[in-house]
Amino acid sequence: MNVMLRPGRDADADDILRIVDGCWSEYPGCVTDIDGEAPELRALATYCAGRDGAFWVAERSGTPVGMICAWPLADGAWELAKMYVQADARGSGAAHELAEAAEAHARAHGAVRMRLWSDTRFDRAHRFYEKRSYVRAGAIRALGDKSNSIEYPYAKPLAGVAVEVLDAAASASAVGPLARVLAACVDDGAAVSFLAPLDHAQARAFWDEQARTVARGDAAILAAWLDGDIVGTVSIIDAGKPNQPHRADLTKMLVTPRARRRGIGRVLMAAAEAEALRRGHRLLVLDTRAGGASEALYRQAGWVEVGAIPDYALNPDGQEFHATVYYYKRLVP
Ligand SMILES: CC(C)(COP(=O)(O)OP(=O)(O)OC[C@H]1O[C@@H](n2cnc3c(N)ncnc32)[C@H](O)[C@@H]1OP(=O)(O)O)[C@@H](O)C(=O)NCCC(=O)NCCS
Repeated sequence: MNVMLRPGRDADADDILRIVDGCWSEYPGCVTDIDGEAPELRALATYCAGRDGAFWVAERSGTPVGMICAWPLADGAWELAKMYVQADARGSGAAHELAEAAEAHARAHGAVRMRLWSDTRFDRAHRFYEKRSYVRAGAIRALGDKSNSIEYPYAKPLAGVAVEVLDAAASASAVGPLARVLAACVDDGAAVSFLAPLDHAQARAFWDEQARTVARGDAAILAAWLDGDIVGTVSIIDAGKPNQPHRADLTKMLVTPRARRRGIGRVLMAAAEAEALRRGHRLLVLDTRAGGASEALYRQAGWVEVGAIPDYALNPDGQEFHATVYYYKRLVP
């Protein structure tokens, strides 16, 4: 059954308390002490208005089954908060519609970044936020409340094109969207080590391993967001040899097909070169299929062609071999 969104009202308090209580009681150790710890739930519309924010409920047959709030923070960021959908309304699209409404409202009010906190126990919520291209962003916090809540911070750029270097926690939390980008590129014909069709589990396994390399300190993953969705990526893999402390490989430069030719590849490249310099590198190397779209991008960015190796790899359809061209770029601090 479809859900309908509408602005929340203080008079929704009974339904709000029922929804919140139901969600919290799914997790061991979580207790709701409304008057002691969350009195704002008794008049949530007034509370959000007082923070210059907004509050929505999702209704099914006239009864609230989900809710979300959003309000401005400092530095152009907005916070997404109090996102709850009752168990029997999950999978209906209600949660995505609520998050979409809150993000669109924040964007329309000039937000450039969205932040949220999520209890470390709420694993379903983490998967939901990660699907919406939020990544772990900074240190966890302990609330010292009756539920002994410890929360992960999540964030994402919300508007336009933005590229960020992902740390270990962010890389691990971005595996889903990065797998989507990789699979879309391979299925579209990109020659990036895999054959098409690339299944999601295989794509995830690749990024899981790449995130572990980041955690070991041997690589950096950069992600590009377009209006709040991860649509592109590039990785820097340190050469890792005692005699090559100054060198790294640039790999997996990917922009999902629907987001191409908007300059995202160029922004990723500039950010990757800056990050490589920051990591102490002075020489970058990459290889790419001869004649691909990427060659124009690399040449434009000042990369120098070394030469082509014939029959280096199979095309993604597994039928024919293609030549691969090597490029390098010296980085000047
Ligand atoms: C290569 C790739 C990352 C480019 O991403 P993108 O976001 O479309 O690139 P940009 O929009 O920043 O393009 C920058 C420049 O590269 C060149 N370029 C990009 N795509 C091109 C294409 N299809 N044909 C010709 N030139 C192209 C252009 O010079 C472009 O500048 P312009 O648009 O002002 O003319 C993207 O096509 C991709 O993901 N391809 C599949 C994966 C792949 O092959 N990766 C390389 C692995 S080594």
